Amino acid sequence: MTTSLKTIDRTRLRSLMQREEKRFADERQRSRELFTRAKHSLLSGVPMNWMVKWAGPFPVFVKEASGARFVDVDGHEYVDLCLGDTGAMTGHAPQAAVEAIIEQARRGITLMLPTEDSIWVGEELARRFGLPYWQFCLTATDANRFCIRLAREITQRKLILVFNYCYHGTVDESFITLKNGVAGPRRGNIGPPVNPAVTTRVVEFNDLDALERVLATREISCILAEPAMTNVGIIHPDAGYHDALRELSRKYGTLLIIDETHTICTGPGGYTRAHNLHPDFFVLGKPIASGLPAATYGFTAEVGERILKRMQLEDCDTGGIGGTLAGNALSLAVMRATLERVLPNVSPRGWK
Ligand SMILES: Cc1ncc(COP(=O)(O)O)c(C=O)c1O
Repeated sequence: MTTSLKTIDRTRLRSLMQREEKRFADERQRSRELFTRAKHSLLSGVPMNWMVKWAGPFPVFVKEASGARFVDVDGHEYVDLCLGDTGAMTGHAPQAAVEAIIEQARRGITLMLPTEDSIWVGEELARRFGLPYWQFCLTATDANRFCIRLAREITQRKLILVFNYCYHGTVDESFITLKNGVAGPRRGNIGPPVNPAVTTRVVEFNDLDALERVLATREISCILAEPAMTNVGIIHPDAGYHDALRELSRKYGTLLIIDETHTICTGPGGYTRAHNLHPDFFVLGKPIASGLPAATYGFTAEVGERILKRMQLEDCDTGGIGGTLAGNALSLAVMRATLERVLPNVSPRGWK
């Protein structure tokens, strides 16, 4: 049998690309002007370095967004399939969140004192995810960092374990990959304090033998895992994987952190509730306050007791957990509005 292989005509591809880029730029004069101006005060013309990766010769500047659409400064309307990389998973500017922002902002934004909303949110998170105690911060990255610190502290073990090509935010310990079976820094890791192989062990998701080999050293404080990996395509767990992961982690005294920042889209109780997982720590950020900076981490009663045993009142504000704006009144008011009215606790499958 003969096969005819057609090769790609690169010259034609380049000219088509140039034509489309020109059309893109011609139709977005205002964005182009703003980008030119922005380059004088913002590094690479954007407020955050990832934005240079947006398609086209410059990013479109946004005028407004609502639901699943946004409009740029040149008047083009887009269906937004990115939704702020899930920060706006609830849709842009949900009415309940906007109302809560306005109401709470009038009454004070941040105090370093608790508001009653924090109790409502804690109770609701406990009901949904099955863990009794909750704390708040501003990003899922921070929530992961704090869980790692707490796990190391209460287990008095130095190492953590992650899965190959995981992403859990800008957590130094997690930027590690396997190359031909050898663990080392992930490509492009900016200014790592140490080679992450010093702090972290890494294995392939779904490889139980490799997992057990590492856990059996009894040096691992915690496993940081998404229940299904969502940042390297989607990798689902094999049948029975989570049961085995839980059993092995308990057997070797390693705590399990489940990061539900993306998999919360599974349902009102996330993947954890839908698949009956029992983590020691649970992390959720991004859409939890409709995209307003807010994140949370929960833990079991046993973990709570172990934390309290090692906390000193005098040092609690310099121990590496927290932040001036963490748990602020505005974040909690919007978290409450999001949980109560935007992502209510009802499921088409009748989950309560
Ligand atoms: C699974 C997971 N956890 C945590 C994070 C970090 O979220 P943030 O960048 O809001 O801190 C991300 C970000 O994409 C993520 O995908």
